[in-house]
Amino acid sequence: MANASCMFTPTLPQFNKLKSSAIVPSPHPIFKRVVSCPSAVEDAADNLSPSEFKPNRLVGKGCKLIGCGSAVPKFEVSNDDLSKIVDTNDEWISVRTGIRKRRLITGKERMTGLAVEAAQKALEMAQVDPDDVDLLLLCTSTPDDLFGSAPQIQAALGCKGNPLAFDITAACSGFVLGLVSASCYIRGGGFKNALVVGADALSRYVDWTDRGTCILFGDAAGAVLVQACESEEDGLFGFDLHSDGEGYRHLHTGIKENEALGTNGSVIGFPPKGGSYSFIQMNGKEVFRFACRVVPQSIQTALENAGMPGSSIDWLLLHQANQRILDAVATRLEIPADRVISNLANYGNTSAASIPLALDEAVRSGKVKPGQTIATSGFGAGLTWGSAIIRWN
Ligand code: ACO
Repeated sequence: MANASCMFTPTLPQFNKLKSSAIVPSPHPIFKRVVSCPSAVEDAADNLSPSEFKPNRLVGKGCKLIGCGSAVPKFEVSNDDLSKIVDTNDEWISVRTGIRKRRLITGKERMTGLAVEAAQKALEMAQVDPDDVDLLLLCTSTPDDLFGSAPQIQAALGCKGNPLAFDITAACSGFVLGLVSASCYIRGGGFKNALVVGADALSRYVDWTDRGTCILFGDAAGAVLVQACESEEDGLFGFDLHSDGEGYRHLHTGIKENEALGTNGSVIGFPPKGGSYSFIQMNGKEVFRFACRVVPQSIQTALENAGMPGSSIDWLLLHQANQRILDAVATRLEIPADRVISNLANYGNTSAASIPLALDEAVRSGKVKPGQTIATSGFGAGLTWGSAIIRWN
């Protein structure tokens, strides 16, 4: 409830009704976020007419990335392991993708378990108490619950303030969309500490008899803590986001058709059978071409929106899908190979987790330093794609 307050612009009668409500313990229930809204007018509100009433917002403030974390399952599968179950080999996979191994969840492991671990590490680095988190965005296409898994993560973290927590589904672009969404909530909505978690367990939707797809994916989670700050400290300089539903046919995991019952006198398709999803279907060549075409354009646009030249980029951090895509985009943008962050050899394509996982490793190893500028871009199913120019810490 606390988090809806800043988004809600009540009329004066609504405001008075809320204030006098017996079930709301706070004397200023709709201004609970006042600590993050310096221009708040809580005490004066009683004397304002509806037309004079100003919502309590942080419009124009900045946001910065101050913590990151990641988690991967223990179970490791090498290319040689895969060659025992499908007709492939280490050389083909390494040369065509750059991937050498991946981690997969097993047994009772769940995507949410990885997400919680990654989020805890991000909070720890940011030195932010779980109770101070007021927004949790879980970017995933493989929730443990159809209705979304973000609230379970919020509960497991012990965020006592009932922060707003919900899922964002945009496949491998999910994390970039989540990051930009968090910045909008902070800048326009008065939110102060946003946890953006990218987590996926695509191994559950992979056809392990299809050598064209099963070699690509791994499971993981990564998280960042985005915090409100003064405009001078702003760490999200520009972004560019898109989708193209026409490209859906190239990459999807659609719901299985409901089989008609058709028995004596029964209505075809009624009662419905339980829903389930098909395996990942992908036209690899088309997705490859799409990524090499749109990602450089999108990064250029994000740079233009930020008013920054390409030469200001310290690191290129792309969704870790295929080393050949990383190389092609870097070449187009004239970014030297030693400025490209890549860890897909160890984890494969971990969908929404890949960018925060790679960021976390690069930060903790000292590769990415505070104050450095990163051009990041996600792309994948939908089709969706998006880029952001960010500063670490
Ligand atoms: N091992 C050995 N041979 C293989 C394998 C394999 N694992 N997979 C395919 N082949 C064979 C094919 O059958 C084909 O054989 P043929 O020439 O006799 O017909 C040959 O290798 C070439 O196959 P292609 O599919 O053309 O190989 P390509 O070079 O395109 O690489 C790949 C395939 C790795 C999938 C690549 O297209 C790719 O990475 N695409 C992008 C995927 C991506 O980025 N997805 C991101 C989004 S994921 C998301 O959003 C969830």
